[in-house]
Amino acid sequence: MLIDVEVGMEGFVVRTTVSVIKADVGSIPGHHTVHPKQLELARSLMAEAVDDGVVASYHVTHVGDDIQLIMTHGRGENDRTIHELAWNIFQEITRRVSKPLKLYGAGQDLLADSFSGNIRGAGPGVAELEFEERKSEPILIFCADKTNPGAWNLPLYKIFADPFNTAGLVIDPSLHEGFCFRVLDLREDAFVDLTTPEELYDLLALIGTPSRYIVEGVRRRDGLPAAAASTSRLSLIAGRYVGKDDPVLIVRAQHGLPALGEVLEAFAFPHLVAGFMRGSHYGPLTPVSMKDAVVSRFDGPPRVVGLGFQIADRCLVGLRGTEPVDLFADAAFDRVRQQAFDVTDYMRRHGPVMPHLLGPEEMEYTTMPQVLSKLKNRFKPMHTPRIAMQG
Ligand code: 13P
Ligand code: 13P
Ligand code: MG
Ligand code: MG
Repeated sequence: MLIDVEVGMEGFVVRTTVSVIKADVGSIPGHHTVHPKQLELARSLMAEAVDDGVVASYHVTHVGDDIQLIMTHGRGENDRTIHELAWNIFQEITRRVSKPLKLYGAGQDLLADSFSGNIRGAGPGVAELEFEERKSEPILIFCADKTNPGAWNLPLYKIFADPFNTAGLVIDPSLHEGFCFRVLDLREDAFVDLTTPEELYDLLALIGTPSRYIVEGVRRRDGLPAAAASTSRLSLIAGRYVGKDDPVLIVRAQHGLPALGEVLEAFAFPHLVAGFMRGSHYGPLTPVSMKDAVVSRFDGPPRVVGLGFQIADRCLVGLRGTEPVDLFADAAFDRVRQQAFDVTDYMRRHGPVMPHLLGPEEMEYTTMPQVLSKLKNRFKPMHTPRIAMQG
């Protein structure tokens, strides 16, 4: 059998939504990876949602200690039923698997007491993209662990605005007009739309500070949806350290959008991202295959996996059922990984010193207030005559 999905009527426009909702609801051991029973339960609950006609298709996966529910449906973005489904699945995993097995950080990302209409702001990360299916619809999904949503800023800039990364910006007439980036200001709770190439320098001026300015989505100049990223900052929601927000990203490719290889090219430089040990260190974003979608050394280095699908009439098409193509499982990325490991060695040698350690405003937790209060009475004004040092 060639394919097992129903093919729609020629000329009939299908509006499809891809929703990727993710959460860390407990892991084994420590923050290393998820438990197979968690994925098993997620898959059986998603299968029920397909039978009930809530979603058209799904794929459940993980990177490190984060579980991603990848769903396709026709309900649009921010749909209550879809968000509630994801919320309930994460609750069930916590209740039926993470807690009984005492997995580490059971229910970690479920910050709200109950579901209140939309999962955004309740803890889990969400990326959603609604579009009219093209004649052929390649969809790429990137999932990262031990970092935060700002990690996509540089790759998104490269994919959609850098002609040295994306040849199509120069030589493909349908990309040549450029793209529009929606950038969030997390501190002011505001957003701004910037178009490239005209506003390239303004865009870079903002997204060069990924702790505050985060690319939420990209559209082609004619409005065609091209990419969507999860943007939640758990620490801002919870007001205390609860883990990094380990983001996801959806990118449409080809035919009037960057080609698959142009999207992947943006990950050929393992740039430094915030996250890593205790969410408080810079480390290289390392592209890995699904078999290496775990973290180890110093709870890292931060990792990203790339999953490739086609979509046909609202359904995910993978190699076997919805099993995606493992995009970084290729020797062409071996040198990138080697570079990331060399950078990890180099950064680690800084120990607890910046710039391996994040700056004070970015730290997820710190002993600084306690240390300062303990030493309060021992600080003397600098102009005090210096007496001999006392041990
Ligand atoms: P499309 O324009 O069909 O996406 O093809 C581009 C391509 O072949 C890139 O290598
Ligand atoms: P997660 O955000 O992936 O749960 O990791 C937290 C942490 O502290 C790693 O050292
Ligand atoms: Mg965790
Ligand atoms: Mg994680």
